Amino acid sequence: MASSKTRQKVGVGLLGSGVVGEAIQDILFHEPRGAATEIELHKIYTRNPTGKKWHARRAALFATKAEEVIDDPRVEIVIESLGHQEPTELAAFRDYILRALEKGKSVVTSDKAVLARYGKEIWAAAEKSGRQVRFEACVGGGIPIIRSLSESFAVEEPEAVFGIVNGTCNYILSQMEKGGKTYGEALKEAQQRGYAETNPAADVDGSDAEAKLLLLSRVAFGLEIQPGAIWRKGIEQIHAVDFRYAARTGASTIKQLAVAKRNGASVEVFVSPVLLARDNLLADIDGATNAICFAGGRSGGARGGRDCDYVLVGPGAGGGPTAVAVLGDVYELARGGPNGFRGFPNLVAPGTLSVQPEDEIKGSFYIRFIVKDRAGIVGDIGQTFGRLHVNISEIWQLKHSEEERRSLTQSYSLKEKPSEILPFVITLENATVRQMREALDSIRDRDYILVEPVWFPIWGTK
Ligand code: HSE
Repeated sequence: MASSKTRQKVGVGLLGSGVVGEAIQDILFHEPRGAATEIELHKIYTRNPTGKKWHARRAALFATKAEEVIDDPRVEIVIESLGHQEPTELAAFRDYILRALEKGKSVVTSDKAVLARYGKEIWAAAEKSGRQVRFEACVGGGIPIIRSLSESFAVEEPEAVFGIVNGTCNYILSQMEKGGKTYGEALKEAQQRGYAETNPAADVDGSDAEAKLLLLSRVAFGLEIQPGAIWRKGIEQIHAVDFRYAARTGASTIKQLAVAKRNGASVEVFVSPVLLARDNLLADIDGATNAICFAGGRSGGARGGRDCDYVLVGPGAGGGPTAVAVLGDVYELARGGPNGFRGFPNLVAPGTLSVQPEDEIKGSFYIRFIVKDRAGIVGDIGQTFGRLHVNISEIWQLKHSEEERRSLTQSYSLKEKPSEILPFVITLENATVRQMREALDSIRDRDYILVEPVWFPIWGTK
């Protein structure tokens, strides 16, 4: 390899000047040091450059058409770090990536939504053009998970990859539990800190975590899944009262997990909040930190009672870490030459495993009810679940202060007085998602049900 003094700089073009795009510019335009000295940024596309941080000093670099960046002959690598508001924008972003590949440029992206939706097409185009698409920044922010899975664990037999992959949700849940914040306050803070997507609905409804999980599932298990095809639950329904029930015996908390777990020839793939035991190490991952666990057949001998062999922890959201991951990919391309198709990095060949139908996923579940209090409710739920052969494990009912009940009536805009409502929790053991849904369908219309029951899995139990 040539020394850094003699090596030519690699020319890059940047699509996007939002939180991530601006952090990339900060690294490349500040005092050159380390890897950044190898990279020359020639053009930046953003729809409205005026007012952007670096526009005043580097106006000539800014373009209002993506094609000006992609087609610039000095640009060898195109970085795509655009944020979408509407799903329709994703098709335009895909077209930018395809155009770059057609023009013989490699692509580095932090845009998991585009890869999750159009990955197959994009890799076919990369193969045709003989160029690379790198996407380390798409999953886990600055955590080098794609490289770890595809290179360090290349000979592993993947059993599970799971963890906390959305910093915004983790920040909101941590702030609700430990900071005493409401859901709305915590979400606003996550946006101010630059963790949230351009449209934060993608964070809280689980679709950002889903896009990341689809990439992880593709790398680890060769699964080619389209967004919307897996079981996905957001965190919008979680209320402070759920943390009280979780902590009932000081035993658990609530975390949003993305999970891909092999069961024979099929893989359980879902995104959901889960009730997580306090002694699970993921329970201590707070704020925007992400943590991704990996279990492999060859390493599993030393696992003991734990649910994985490796845990990669790091900043999962925010401009700085994501920009570091993007530029790490650029630097890797620059060192090895940006050319040469390397294929999608699968540990298991596509077509070997299938996705387990969500209705068949089996486990223990937490269901939180808010009812208009009267005699016979628990009996009615118990009898109905019993008729459907759904096994109730426990019933938890805490004492609730007037203040807590008021907060619930306000959150759910209930017309009942705080003294008339009653929250309680039922847990199920050894139930399938299908049984769970059938049981809830059968009581949904009861006059005592004030709020759609909130349910999610209890992690690590069957
Ligand atoms: N909105 C994402 C998150 C950013 O909160 O994790 C990183 O992909």
